[in-house]
This record gives sequence, C-alpha cells and structure tokens, in this order.
Amino acid sequence: MGGDHAGERDGADPGGAGASLSAEDLPDGVVIADRTGRVVVFNRMAARLLRRPADSVLGRDFRDAFPLYDADGRNWWKCSDPYGGLRTRTRQPERTLFLADGREILMTARYVRDEPLGAVVRLVVTLRDASHRARWERSRADLVSTVAHELRSPLTSVKGFTATLLAKWGRLTEKQKIFMLETVNADADRVTRLITELLSVSRIESGRLEIRRQLVDLPDLARKLIAGRVAADEAEDRYRLEVHGPLPEMWLDADKIEQIMANLVENAVRHGAGTVTIVIEPHEGGAAVSVRDEGKGIAPEAVPRVFRRFWRSRRRGGTGLGLFIVKGLIEAHGGTITVCRAPSGGAEFRFTVPADTPEFA
Ligand SMILES: Nc1ncnc2c1ncn2[C@@H]1O[C@H](COP(=O)(O)OP(=O)(O)O)[C@@H](O)[C@H]1O
Ligand SMILES: [Mg+2]
Repeated sequence: MGGDHAGERDGADPGGAGASLSAEDLPDGVVIADRTGRVVVFNRMAARLLRRPADSVLGRDFRDAFPLYDADGRNWWKCSDPYGGLRTRTRQPERTLFLADGREILMTARYVRDEPLGAVVRLVVTLRDASHRARWERSRADLVSTVAHELRSPLTSVKGFTATLLAKWGRLTEKQKIFMLETVNADADRVTRLITELLSVSRIESGRLEIRRQLVDLPDLARKLIAGRVAADEAEDRYRLEVHGPLPEMWLDADKIEQIMANLVENAVRHGAGTVTIVIEPHEGGAAVSVRDEGKGIAPEAVPRVFRRFWRSRRRGGTGLGLFIVKGLIEAHGGTITVCRAPSGGAEFRFTVPADTPEFA
C-alpha cells in the first residue's frame, strides 16, 4: 500500500476544508464521515488498527465500513446513532469498544454540527489501540487488590491481638501477653516493610529511581553482608565468598547494590538451602555477581515469572516484591539479572553491572 491511503486530497470532504490535511500525521486512527455517513478520511493508523486498506472503506457508509461492538456485543453505531440521536450531543467520550474479531479499541467521536442543534455534518472518530492500556489497567487493578490483601492480613492480627489484650488483660498469663505483643510487633514490621517496598516499586515503575554512583568495593560489600548475618546469629559456614580476578573500578550506587545482594542472599537462605555462595568476577569491563544455593532451585516453568511483582511459589512470609525490586535496581544501573540452576543444584541468581564512570565524567 502506498501513500494513497487517505482519500484526503480529492475534495471528498465537503464539511471540513483542509481539516484532514494532517490526518496522516496523527498518532491515532482517524476516520471522518460526511453528512451522509460516507467515509471520506481514513488515515494510515486507522487502516492499521482496523486491519483494512483505506480503499476498501472510503466512500462506504461508516456503519458497514467498520462495525464496532460494546462489551455486550451490541452494534455500537446502532446504539449510539450519531446522525439521529439527541441534537444536543456533540461528542462521545472515550470508551473501550470491540472490533468484529474481538480486539479492544479505544474510541472517541465528535459530532460536528454546522449550527447548534443542527444536523450532523461530519462525524470525526479517533481510534486507539486499547490492548496495551487494557493490560496495564488490569495489572494496576491486580496490584491494588494484592496490596490491599497483603496489608489486611497483618492488620487483622494486630487488631485481633490488641483487642484481646485490652479486653482480657487481667486474665492473660505473662507468656500469652508476650506472645501476642511479639506477634503484633512482627506484623507491624511487616506492614512497614511492605510499604517501603511498595514505594520502591512505585519509584521503579515511574522511572524516578536515582542512582548515586560512588566507588564500590563489591567483595568488601559482600564480606560485610555476610558478617552482618553471622553477627545476627547465623552459622558462619553457611556462607562462601569467591572473588575471581582483578575487578575494574566499579562506580555504583552502594546502598542499592547492597540492597540487591542482601535480597538475593536472604532469598537463598529463606527459599533455598545448604551453603550460600557469592561469586564475584569481572565481566565485559564490569562485574558479575552470582548468588548460589543448594536448595530446590526454581522450576523452569516458573523462571519467566520470578521477577514479577508479587510472584512467589509458596507463601513463606515474603512479599514477592523482592526480586521485582532487585531487577529494577539492577536495570537502573544498566545491568541485567538472570536465574539458572546452580552447579550445586539450587538456584543461581546472576547479575552483571557495567563499571561505569562517575556521574560528572
Ligand atoms: N534462592 C531461591 N531458591 C528457590 N526459590 C526462590 C529463590 N529465590 C526466590 N525464590 C522464589 O521466588 C519467589 C519470589 O522471590 P521474592 O521476589 O524475593 O519474594 P519473597 O522473597 O518476598 O517471597 C519466592 O517466593 C520464591 O518462591
Ligand atoms: Mg525475597
């Protein structure tokens, strides 16, 4: 198909002198029908969205040229009746409609009348691909309901235990009180952690993540991370650190790299088993860090899902946001993360980050 899509030059546009001149340039599909309902403009994007060449549509009645249906399968043009209908109507706000093949499309229409309450002299319809937005909106809605659910369960326990403590304080043993207060305390921590993580998610999704680069000693960072866990009463021999070869000077956001490693190690301990090995090595001018464990690993069919929000294979107290955030933080550094089977059997998360240069360079 060449440039003869639009039918915009041959004066077949009685109502709108020149109005269609830029229709081809618009990012949306544009269809214009004249006062009789014949299609006079059908731009390239409309042809693409409706999967119809312009010459099969131009000159035909718009109702036959591109039928649209509402969610109940009713013919939209019949329902809305642009040329009949109320004379006060000048437009249709954006709505999701369906094409004959079931694809969703966002449609907006304007009813141009040459005088108020006059007859429609031109119907201008813009069309936009809705699949992207529909997917996005669904994931938004899922997010809201998941977050609500995640917040509700710890709050339910906080509420239940504080109510019990208040109502039965005198009748509870010291041990019962301590147990309830500990649970409340842990649940409050969980809510706080969840909210902190949600804020990270929101920063990642809106692209507001700021990377403050400084010289980072990756092996040193790993060593401190392990020391911290050992100080918190974990067995020292559960961890191993391997550093291969000289690393280049790495300019990274130290806090975020620490957060990434801490998350991966925490996962290896919590979801994996056996020895947790951190391997740090040079990689394409930057560095690669692998965190391996000896647990069950990640099932191959779950691999594409592990980095998604709220994905977790079993409920083990986590939020399912950790790896999503880790991936976002790594990508903000220009790096990548993958998961595979570790040589020792468990999961191996490996990320690479470019060495980069200081911000001012
Ligand atoms: N080292 C690992 N071994 C096995 N499964 C893992 C490992 N790391 C992560 N997973 C799986 O991936 C899921 C998502 O991890 P993550 O996003 O950190 O969420 P969370 O740790 O809060 O559950 C985990 O729930 C777990 O099922
Ligand atoms: Mg985690």
